[in-house]
Formats: sequence, structure tokens, C-alpha cells
Amino acid sequence: MLSFLFVPLILGSLAQAASVPAWQAPTAGDVRSPCPILNALANHGLINRNGKDITPAQYTAGLKTIGCDPVLCGALAQAALNVIPNRKNEKGESVFGLDDLRTHLGIEHDASLTRNDYDLDPNHDNYSLNRTLYDQLVSLRDPQTQRLDATSIARARKIRQKDSKDRNPKATLDRKQLALAHGEGAAFLMIMGHQYGYSVPVPYAKGFFVDERLPFEEGWEPSAKPLSFMELGLNVGAVIEKELTLKN
Ligand SMILES: *[C@@H]1O[C@H](CO)[C@@H](O)[C@H](O)[C@H]1NC(C)=O
Ligand SMILES: *[C@@H]1O[C@H](CO)[C@@H](O)[C@H](O)[C@H]1NC(C)=O
Repeated sequence: MLSFLFVPLILGSLAQAASVPAWQAPTAGDVRSPCPILNALANHGLINRNGKDITPAQYTAGLKTIGCDPVLCGALAQAALNVIPNRKNEKGESVFGLDDLRTHLGIEHDASLTRNDYDLDPNHDNYSLNRTLYDQLVSLRDPQTQRLDATSIARARKIRQKDSKDRNPKATLDRKQLALAHGEGAAFLMIMGHQYGYSVPVPYAKGFFVDERLPFEEGWEPSAKPLSFMELGLNVGAVIEKELTLKN
């Protein structure tokens, strides 16, 4: 009897996965951003695979596919539009490239969880994963559940902010940068961790950060209940709450 109830759920999640094109690594000439979520959308063809000429409508649809509700999608698209040069396609629509989002202190910021500070990188790399930082993040998983949760992100944020303060005289950690940094940690918990009470199994984190892939193979699926600004806010709150209780 129970199995009948599960059939629509299973079919639902397969249909969802089937609607997402397969992951492909970027090829020469493709552009990517500092944000692993947006890069994953491009790697799956949910936005242009080359990362160029993305319209806000395409961007919003991509975010919707991974479980964000329309208000949250719109706000994230607007945040991107606010930092990019005003460029239009032949239809007169605003377009941007993922590389436009690399502007330092636009969306790109210091003390990121997995990216070097702009001024600490010898080549001013403004988007690539630093594998050492990724390993550090994963080492902060909950030892019991083996998942990354609000405490893990809080500990990582604290370490990264201290590192920027200690080593990077040019680090900018103002309100906007801290809001972005906490917002993206919260977005990670929300989008990747919604199946486990907003905590992320390490295999999902690896697929997400290392391959910039939606980790369907590992068991992830987009949230069936669209994720809202409220959930994002609650996750930001959870991270900050943990961060405040941590000793230096
Ligand atoms: C990102 O860094 C590269 C290399 O330093 C630079 O050419 C490019 O203009 C930067 N992009 C932005 C949007 O700042
Ligand atoms: C990665 O980050 C660590 C810690 O900030 C730093 O020491 C190291 O130089 C970085 N690696 C690369 C390749 O940039």
C-alpha cells in the first residue's frame, strides 16, 4: 500500500532529473564565475553552457529548476544585474557573462569559503576553486552526521574572516561583503542540504564544489517545495547564531 504512495514521488523526482541536461565540463573559451551554483547551471546547460550572453529570464529559470521560488530567483538575478556592465543582445534584452560576475567587490568578495582573496592570489584570480580551502571546509563537517551544517559554515566563515584580516591588508569585510559571504553559505545549506534539514552530505559538497555539478548521482534533487527568501534568511540566521557562540 505504502509503495503506491511513493510511486508518484519517485516518478516526480526522475522527471525532474530528466529535465536537467547532463553535466559537461567547460571547454576552451567558456567563461565561469566565482559562484559554484551558477557554474553548475552552465555545466548542465540550464543557462548557456559557454557562460556568455545570459538573460535574466534564463538565469531565473535556471535557479527555479534547482528549487528557488520566483521571488528569490528575481532577487538573485537583480543582484547580478546590479554589478554587471549594461549590455544588450540584438533583441534589446540585458545580457551578462558569468565572467562579468568576477568583478572584485561586486559579488566576488574576500574571505570566501573556497576562493582565494583577490589580493592574496598572485595572479589576481577572481573565480577559481582553491582545493586546500575546499578540504578545510569539508574537514569542518559534523563528525557524527558527516554532513556540513550551519556550525560547519560558521566555523569556516570565522577561519576565513580571520585569515583575511591577518594576511590581507586590502581585505574588504564590510556589511555588504559579509552579507554576501553569509548569504552564499546559507544558499549552499539551503539548496544542497534541504533533504537533511539544511545540512549537506560530503559527497554532495564534493560534486558541487569540485565538479560544479548538481549531485543527482549522489542522491540530491531539487527541493519540491520552492525555497524562499525566508528559508535563506533562516539559514543566514543559523550560521550567524553559531558563529557568535564560537570562541576565537
Ligand atoms: C578578473 O581577473 C582577470 C585577470 O586578472 C581580469 O582580466 C578581469 O578583468 C577580471 N574580471 C573582472 C570582472 O574584474
Ligand atoms: C589556497 O589557500 C591557502 C589558504 O589560504 C593558501 O595558503 C594557498 O596558497 C592557496 N593555494 C593556491 C594554489 O592559491
